[in-house]
Amino acid sequence: MPSTLDPQLRRALADRLLYYHELGIYDFYRREPLVRESPATDVVKSATSQSELREEMAARKSAVAATVAEEDIFEARTPKPESGVTDPVAALKLIREDLGECTRCKLHKQGRKQIVFGVGNPRAELMFVGEGPGADEDAQGEPFVGRAGQLLNNMIKAMGLQREDVYIANVVKCRPPGNRTPEPDECDTCSPFLMRQIATIQPKVVVALGATAAKNLLAMNSSLGELRGRFYDFNPAGVRRNDPSWPGARLAVTYHPAYLLRDPRQKGEAWKDLQMVMKYLGLKPPKADA
Ligand code: URA
Repeated sequence: MPSTLDPQLRRALADRLLYYHELGIYDFYRREPLVRESPATDVVKSATSQSELREEMAARKSAVAATVAEEDIFEARTPKPESGVTDPVAALKLIREDLGECTRCKLHKQGRKQIVFGVGNPRAELMFVGEGPGADEDAQGEPFVGRAGQLLNNMIKAMGLQREDVYIANVVKCRPPGNRTPEPDECDTCSPFLMRQIATIQPKVVVALGATAAKNLLAMNSSLGELRGRFYDFNPAGVRRNDPSWPGARLAVTYHPAYLLRDPRQKGEAWKDLQMVMKYLGLKPPKADA
């Protein structure tokens, strides 16, 4: 902060930073002029139909994300508790402590029993991200332990891995009532913690399970069908890249196991997504008698 800043404004900014810090938000970025010079009205003028408009807006949203990542304009204003902690076990513990008995969004007063932080190998090469805890997860404090979790375990085994080899987390860490989809403000409030988990674990691949995870991680609004079938370069948003040895992860999108339970005909498609990941990680499916 330049010393010429008006002292009152300086104090106000310091107070605001402290306020965000208490919310668990540590990094801030300024949108580049490019973004401001692309008013949405241009898009409306040039798009002739609603679907064209939606496509155009989705493309612009991803372009914004790409610009932010490429130009590395994130600026750390206050250090996160885990900054400089190289042991991922210790760093994850610090993130969990920072989350505390979270009351940052309304989910804390909508019947959650406990926070479901994440589970697995803190040095995992492969990380799965789901939507949010269901009733079983809320009761046990661990992601994907219900029916969808059993299917996820089978998917992991089919890839030649054990559940303990990977890390599993969700976009929101508290159960949405009645298993509803988490709302955008809930995802936005909780996502910084997920981003910090990913930046700590530094996986080679993140698999987004279902549309909520995919849309939140990629900041794109396309359908799941459009998003799957390819890799994306992924750097956790808002987390300063302070380790040159980790270039970021590749991100793949596949169907949520709960969706596959409802429509098992899509399992073949999900398997294709997982095979793409296996090829990249050099994984082989287990032998039939293993
Ligand atoms: N569905 C999710 O998205 N996450 C879980 O942890 C369980 C079910």
